[in-house]
Amino acid sequence: MRNVIGQAVVGDDLYGRDYELARLWETLEQGEHILMLAPRRVGKTSLMLELRRAPRENWNVIYVDVERGDGPADFVAAVLAALAADRRYRSRFETIPFSGAVKDVLGRFQSVSVDVDVLRVELKGAIGREWDHAADQLQARLTNLPAAGANLLIIVDELPFLVSRMLRTAERKHDAEMLLSRLRHWRQAPELRGKVRTLVGGSIGLEGVLRRASLSGLINDLAPFHLDSWDRPTAVEFMKALGNGCDFRLDDASIARILDLLRDPVPYHVQLFFSTLRDACRNKPSRVSPEMIERCFEERLAGASGTAHLDHYAERLEIAFGEREHEMARDILGRACRREDGAGFAELEDLRQRSGQMYLSVLRDLEADGYVRHEGSRLKFRSNLLRKWWRKYHDRGVAP
Ligand SMILES: Nc1ncnc2c1ncn2[C@@H]1O[C@H](COP(=O)(O)OP(=O)(O)O)[C@@H](O)[C@H]1O
Ligand SMILES: [Mg+2]
Repeated sequence: MRNVIGQAVVGDDLYGRDYELARLWETLEQGEHILMLAPRRVGKTSLMLELRRAPRENWNVIYVDVERGDGPADFVAAVLAALAADRRYRSRFETIPFSGAVKDVLGRFQSVSVDVDVLRVELKGAIGREWDHAADQLQARLTNLPAAGANLLIIVDELPFLVSRMLRTAERKHDAEMLLSRLRHWRQAPELRGKVRTLVGGSIGLEGVLRRASLSGLINDLAPFHLDSWDRPTAVEFMKALGNGCDFRLDDASIARILDLLRDPVPYHVQLFFSTLRDACRNKPSRVSPEMIERCFEERLAGASGTAHLDHYAERLEIAFGEREHEMARDILGRACRREDGAGFAELEDLRQRSGQMYLSVLRDLEADGYVRHEGSRLKFRSNLLRKWWRKYHDRGVAP
């Protein structure tokens, strides 16, 4: 197992997710379609890619990431490209020819070994505004794509990003609605039942994004799958295994200190802490001390250099929320970050009085997206790392 920071991990590098993988397969085999929910860096993409790397018998899996897309043509092009580039589907895919520009693109790439990203860009250009038509053609092929008795799983990563980008303008709101209706249609079409399953996921809660646009009905048939950070014993075992692998073994007290400081063992944060500490100690475990661990946390992880790893928490608020809600979210987080034990709800009462429903809706999303959680009568940051960093770089209230 390697100390991987940033890239999705699969196979031997994917730690402690056997239960989640088994649950995902079980849910899919029961015929459900899945909405995977978790904040960024918890390991969604890793799990999705592991489903593709080691599928269960009789399952074929394709994976597309639509994070950078801006419209429904991106989605259709991504799925088409993934299918057309896949050896298992390529020949069967061509038995029903597409029409027009899509056909030309697929024809040109027929005999060459296909780079899926290039194909995707070409297909998007060919589809243009006719995405609905291309989606029809794709659907007709999905009916006979999986071999007899086999299932096709289509994984769509970061769909909420694509959807929330589309919801920003009135014209594209209609497109977003059409795209989500199309996906629902795939889930419900009798000819696809028992053959095609979808798993959609992402780092901003699709539920919240759609609720604000009054479109929640379009996903209420999906089975929600909540992916959490590791539990503490898994994080402990992970650090031991990692230490054994690179001759940087940490004692129990050091591991406990690291996990106390992080509080929420987000896999990425654990990987990052390990690597930062190892570098600071130049791979000599004898140099590890409580002060060294503390310094790594304060100055590196929660310091300016941590911004590269944590800034996405701030960015995605801008993407997920409209302007007023964004203000509200920052106000709530600002109040909750000042103390390790968070803010009492009494301290948030003025926000509730002022904005009622909007306050409740933002609060719900901040909880669903993994920023904060209720504990008794208090609202706390889940991650103490994020809290510290937020306090330093985003809190516009009382100076630290
Ligand atoms: N099961 C895991 N085992 C080891 N590291 C993990 C695991 N899940 C996530 N990570 C760490 O988190 C990083 C981001 O993982 P990724 O799957 O891309 O998360 P997400 O898609 O939720 O943002 C990886 O580079 C790795 O450092
Ligand atoms: Mg991801």
